[in-house]
Formats: sequence, C-alpha cells, structure tokens
Amino acid sequence: MSIPKKHVLVTGGAGYIGSHTVVEMLETGYEVIIVDNLVNSSKEAIRRIERITGKSFKFYEVDIRCKKALEPIFIENKIDAIIHFAGLKAVGESVEKPIEYYDNNVGGTLSLIEMAIKYHIKNIIFSSSATVYGNPDKLPIDETSPLKTTNPYGSTKLMIEQILTDVGVAHPEFIIVLLRYFNPVGAHPSGLIGENPTGIPNNLTPYLAMVAAGKLPLVHIYGNDYHTIDGTGVRDYIHVLDLSHGHILALEKVNKPGVYIYNLGTGRGYSVFEVLHAFEEACGKTLPYVIDPRRPGDIDASFANVNKAKDELGFQAKLGINDMCQSLWKFQCQNPNGYSK
Ligand code: NAD
Ligand code: WQD
Repeated sequence: MSIPKKHVLVTGGAGYIGSHTVVEMLETGYEVIIVDNLVNSSKEAIRRIERITGKSFKFYEVDIRCKKALEPIFIENKIDAIIHFAGLKAVGESVEKPIEYYDNNVGGTLSLIEMAIKYHIKNIIFSSSATVYGNPDKLPIDETSPLKTTNPYGSTKLMIEQILTDVGVAHPEFIIVLLRYFNPVGAHPSGLIGENPTGIPNNLTPYLAMVAAGKLPLVHIYGNDYHTIDGTGVRDYIHVLDLSHGHILALEKVNKPGVYIYNLGTGRGYSVFEVLHAFEEACGKTLPYVIDPRRPGDIDASFANVNKAKDELGFQAKLGINDMCQSLWKFQCQNPNGYSK
C-alpha cells in the first residue's frame, strides 16, 4: 500500500496515547519520528514500541518549546505531517500550576507551529479534549456544542484550538485536524504499553487497577447523587487502540485544506458503578469502595455524538468496556511498578 503522508513527526510519542498510535503507524508502514522530553514518560516506552513492532524509528529527547533543539529535527528529516500529542494533562495540577500549563501546552504548540510554517509541513493533527465542552447543555455532545472550560488545562486546549484555527485562516493551504478525545482507557493487548501514571492516579480506571492489585485499599466513588442511571458520573470511555486508529484515519482521510474538528468517543456512556463492575469481572475480584463527596468540577454525564467522525473519517470504535478493563488489567499485572523495573 502506498502511504501519501508517510513521514510523520509525533510529538509526545512516548506517552500513553502517542505510544499506541506510533505502534499502529509502524505496523501500517509509516516512518515515525518521535519528539518527547520524557516529562511524563520514559525511554522504556520507546524500547517497548520497538519490541512490539520490531521496527526502528527516530527518537529525539527534546522539549518542543526549545526552538534551538526543535529546528534541526525539521532540517534533518523529511516530514509530511505532524501528530501533536505533547502536553501536560493533569487537571488538578493545572489549577495549582497554571503558568506551567500555559507555558508548556500553548508555548510548546506555538514553537511547533512556527517550525511547521517555516518548513512547509502543512498537515497537523492535534490532541484536543472533550474537556473543551465543559458542562454540556445537551447529550450526546456534538462538535457544535458551546465551548467553555473550567480549569487551566482545558483552557490550554481551547486556546490551542483557536490558535490552530487562526493558522488555518492565515495559511489556507494547511490541513488541520482537531481531535476531541473523550475518556481514553485500556492498553495494548501485548501488555507491554499502557498508561503509566506517577503516584496516585487521578483517573478512574488506573485507580481501579491499583486497588485490584492491592496497592491502594479501596475505590473512592466521587458522588452518587448525580442525575444519572445509578447516581454516579457517566463518561464515554474509549479504548486507546480505537482512539489511536482515529489518528490514522485523520491522516489518511482528511486531504483537503481546512480546519476539521471531530469527536473521538464511542457514543455510549458508562457510570462509575458500571465501570467498577466491568473491572471486577476482568480481574476476578470484588473491589471494596466507599462513596465520597463529589469531586469539585465534575459533571453528571459526558458522551459523544460521533456521527461526524463516522461519516467523514469512517471512524467507529470497535472495542467495548470489557476489552478496556481486560487490557488494562493485563498491563497492570505485567507491570506492577509501571515502566520502572
Ligand atoms: P501523556 O502524558 O502520557 O503523553 C504526553 C507526552 O508528551 C508525554 O510523553 C510527555 O513526556 C510529552 N511532553 C509533554 N510536554 C512536552 C514538551 N514540552 N516537549 C516534548 N514532550 C512533551 O498523555 P496522553 O494521555 O498520552 O495524552 C496525549 C495528549 O492527549 C495530551 O495532549 C493530552 O492533553 C491529550 N488528551 C489526553 C486525554 C487523556 O485522558 N489521556 C484526554 C484528552 C486529551
Ligand atoms: C471519570 C468518572 C469521576 C476517579 C478527565 C479529565 C479530562 C480528560 C480525561 C484530558 C467521574 C469518577 C474518578 C476516582 C471516581 N483528560 N471517579 N473515583 O474527570 O471524566 O476526565 O480525564 O483531556 O479532561 O478531566 O475522568 O477518570 O477522572 O473520572 O469516582 O477515583 O469517575 O467522578 O465521574 P474525567 P476520570
């Protein structure tokens, strides 16, 4: 098969979603160049991508904010497109350290776009988030829903979307794709790569995995008085493999200049209790839990209308909640201490 945009620069390619996407790209025949400063990942992820795929690729340990280090990458390599994952992503931390988040996420993107313009790399795919919808007025959420953010992390995503939209106006030859991910979970079926959070996880599914592994005593369910089927928060969890595939579709199917926005989710919501029970089934254990007060900033429910991604990209999530929990549990069992030995 010939791949028109064969050489792809992947920022943040050592991270959770980036590493899974790189695996599929290498297996499909893309030439990948990863740029990652390893602020939230490790070289072990790079080694594991090589192990899964048996392919080699270029890796630069570079902070994308550093133009002096970034520019040689654009000079040394043929690049047809950029997938831009690099960014900090912890909502709570962004409230405590807003400047760090604006500097890293917005600053990093500005320096990357400057290089893309200078070296005529006209195709950029950006990792946005359903967080840009804030507390939605109606469900399921489509791409025309009002945008409002509730924390600095979300604001960086919204600002970057705006910046890229403006770049699309100034450079009408660019193809820019903004992918709004819902809740990515799960791991590669090999059990070799997965989410590798440092410290106590903030997100639900890594927390469940730690309780199942006996590393944390019990699950804290943040609120059971939401307006949902069982009172707990409902989210659109999407398997990281389905999400990764969405990036390949965005590379292959979007070929006319413009700025395009797509939700990537499954279109179905699951409550915290439903996820807890699916995880119990995957790990074969009953997980102790306690009902705690609501977590500040949390919303009742969020799930995607994915018709646009389906119609225009041919995107459809194939893996369900059981696959998500089973693959995460496999990753947890094979890597009780994450990527560290
Ligand atoms: P991750 O932290 O695992 O991966 C991000 C990678 O970017 C890391 O490897 C990190 O070292 C790297 N990085 C960060 N700042 C950098 C910089 N200045 N220069 C070079 N590398 C840098 O996160 P992830 O879950 O894989 O998320 C990837 C992207 O998707 C992020 O932009 C995130 O905001 C977005 N996103 C994630 C989720 C989610 O729940 N995981 C949901 C929606 C959107
Ligand atoms: C899911 C549900 C919690 C932990 C976050 C970011 C979002 C995006 C994805 C990047 C909620 C409940 C959670 C726990 C619980 N990231 N919960 N006990 O909050 O939907 O999204 O990650 O863009 O921006 O905000 O995901 O996994 O933290 O929570 O009861 O220990 O699980 O209240 O209902 P969230 P989550």
